[in-house]
Amino acid sequence: MNKNFSFLTKLALAAVIAVSALSTSLVADHHEGGDELDLHKIMKEGHKGKTSLSAKAKKGEATEAELKTLIGMYLAMEKLTPPMGDSKSWKDKTSKLTNAAINVFAKTDGAIDAYSKAVNCKACHKVHKED
Ligand code: HEC
Repeated sequence: MNKNFSFLTKLALAAVIAVSALSTSLVADHHEGGDELDLHKIMKEGHKGKTSLSAKAKKGEATEAELKTLIGMYLAMEKLTPPMGDSKSWKDKTSKLTNAAINVFAKTDGAIDAYSKAVNCKACHKVHKED
């Protein structure tokens, strides 16, 4: 078990870095493209394929820097609008992803299993992604 103090310290660190990643690289770059462009970028770099950040996180192989990037992506996703589905469902799914990724970063017990469940591609695409 992690001590509370170190968990909270890591959480605060992750949040600060994630928010700065969000405002600099993800959202600021894509003003012209609107919300969808950001989701495409997040899916390609964060989720798609065997070497994505998500794939590494699920195997416990993501570095701290990679996990921070992933957390930043999920925080960005919370603020974006999906092409389909209601906003409550979106907010629920994306905030769960953020929390799950922060737990992986903080190395809490069972965090990788919980993250692997939260990052359910089909469950989210079915509701929020157009065919
Ligand atoms: C919380 C919701 C959510 C989860 C979880 C999720 N996705 Fe997505 N994904 C989306 C949405 C929404 C889109 C559609 C974006 C658009 O068309 O604007 C999308 C689109 C994509 C695309 C197409 C990107 C493009 O450029 O059009 C790929 C590839 C993708 N997701 C892969 C994955 C994989 C692989 C996983 C699981 C490891 C995953 N996604 C998990 C919401 C999610």
